[in-house]
Amino acid sequence: MISYKIKQQIEKTDLLVLPIFEAKKFSGLAKMIDEQLSGQITKLYESKEFEAKLKQTALLYTQGQAYQRVLLIGCGDIKNVNSRHLKQVLGMATLQAQSKKIKKLELALPKELFKKFDPQILGQDISAGIGMSDYAFDTYREKDARVVHISRVTLVTDCDTKQKKALEKGLEAGDKIAQAANFMRELGNTPPSDMTPTRLGKEAQTMGQLHKNLKIKVLGQTEIEKLKMGSFLAVAKGSHEEPKFIIMEFMNGKKGDKPTVLVGKGITFDSGGLSIKPANFMSDMKFDMLGAATVIGCMNALARLDVKKNVVGLVPACENMPGGRAYRPDDILTAMNGKTIEVKNTDAEGRLILCDALCYASRYEPKEVIDFATLTGACVVAIGEERCGLFSKEEKMVSGLLASAEKTGELLWRLPLGEEYSEMMKSMVADYSNISASRYAGASTAAAFLEFFTDYPWAHIDLSGSYTSGKSHPWMHVGANGFGVQTVVDYLA
Ligand code: BES
Ligand code: MG
Ligand code: ZN
Repeated sequence: MISYKIKQQIEKTDLLVLPIFEAKKFSGLAKMIDEQLSGQITKLYESKEFEAKLKQTALLYTQGQAYQRVLLIGCGDIKNVNSRHLKQVLGMATLQAQSKKIKKLELALPKELFKKFDPQILGQDISAGIGMSDYAFDTYREKDARVVHISRVTLVTDCDTKQKKALEKGLEAGDKIAQAANFMRELGNTPPSDMTPTRLGKEAQTMGQLHKNLKIKVLGQTEIEKLKMGSFLAVAKGSHEEPKFIIMEFMNGKKGDKPTVLVGKGITFDSGGLSIKPANFMSDMKFDMLGAATVIGCMNALARLDVKKNVVGLVPACENMPGGRAYRPDDILTAMNGKTIEVKNTDAEGRLILCDALCYASRYEPKEVIDFATLTGACVVAIGEERCGLFSKEEKMVSGLLASAEKTGELLWRLPLGEEYSEMMKSMVADYSNISASRYAGASTAAAFLEFFTDYPWAHIDLSGSYTSGKSHPWMHVGANGFGVQTVVDYLA
C-alpha cells in the first residue's frame, strides 16, 4: 500500500524525483533545484550527459540539502508527452528507488504538467503508474531477494486548491486501479500448479466476500455438463484439474439497465494438448489465463471504485493437457448453442472454451460483450508485446475502446473481422472448424470463429501485449503487466 500526500515545499527526503522536459532554459522547480545544486543540472544538460530525453535518468547526490538525492527523469518534448510516457518515467523512478531500498520519496510536479494534463488525470496517472511499477512477483523468492516496496509518495506542487482537490481525487482512483491491476497480475504470475481453475474460482470468491455488491458463483463439472457446454468440457478432459465456470455479477447501475458482459479466457496452462507445443513455445503458457485475470481484475476495480454500472464477468477456466482422456484432433464437439465444431488442432483451445461462454452471455440480453483472450501467437507476431488487438464490427465500441486505451496509455489497435475469415472457419464435416486451413491471418480467423457465437454487440481483444518475460516493459517488473484494467474502467465509467 502506498500513501500519497501533497505538499507545497520539499521536505527532508532520501530521494527527490524531478521530471524534466527538454528546454533551452529551466524554469520553476527545475530552476530552483538547479540553483540549489550550483548549476549541476545545467552542466549535465550542456555536456549532453542528461538531455531530458524520454526515459533518460540521472542521479545526483547532494550535500547540505533537505533531499539526499535527486533523480532527474527525462520526459522529452512537452509537446509530445502523454499518459503512457508519464507512467513509464515514473515507473523507472520507482524501480530505481526500489533498487536503492528507498521507501519514501518526494515527487516534484513541474508547472508544465498542469498545462498538459487535467489535474485529476494527472493524479490518476501518477498513482496508477507508480503503483503498477511498484508491484513485483517475488513471493516465491527468499526474503532478502524480494523487492523493497514504496510506502509513501509526497507530491511537491504549488498548484491551487481546486487543482489540488482534483489531483487528490485522481490519486485515489489511480491507486485503486493499480491495486486491482496488481491483483490480476498476481493471478497471472502464480505458477500453474498453484493457479488451477479451482484456485482461480476461490480467488474470485474471496474477492466477492470483500465487496458486498459483487456476487460470485463458481460452477463445477456437473453444472457445466447441465449447461451443455460441450466445447469447453472437451478442452478440460485431458487434465486432472476440474474445470470451473466463474460468474461474477456486479449490478451497481440502474435497475433494468442491460449489463455489459466481460468474458475472459481462463486456460490455467496451455500445453497444446495432444497437438502438443514445442518446448520453447510452452514456457510462459501459465499466462494463458490472463483474459480471465483481466476480467477478474476489472470486476475488482469496478467494485473498489463503486462504478455505477451493471457489469457481469464470465470466466471459463480449465487446463489444456494431453493424456488418455484428452480430446483429440478429428473429434466433433457440440457447443452450448447446438452448433458443431470439428477439432483440427487441440492447441486452438481458447476459442473452444470462449464460444460456450459467449453463448452463456446471451442469457443476460447484454448491452455489449467484450472478451479478453491470449488467443493467438499470430497477434503477437503481428503487433508485438506491448499492444493488443481489437476486433469488432461495432463502430461505437471500437471508437470508445480505442479512445480509452489512448487516454490511459495502454496500446490497442484495430484488426479486421470479415467474411473471408469466417469462410475459412467452416468445416466440411461439422458447422465450424477450430482452425483454418491457411497459415495466414491467424488472429483474424480466430476472432471470426468467436463471432459465430455472438448475437449482441461484441468486441474481442487478443491480449498479445499482456505479459513480458523480457525487456519490452523496462518500467515494470517482469511478468503479467495488468493490461486492460485501466482501459476497461475508463470505457465503462
Ligand atoms: N494460448 C495460445 C496463443 C498464444 C501463444 C498467446 C503465445 C500468446 C503467446 C493459443 O491457445 C494457441 O496455442 N494458439 C495457436 C493457434 C493455432 C493452433 C491455430 C497459435 O497461435 O499458435
Ligand atoms: Mg493453445
Ligand atoms: Zn491457449
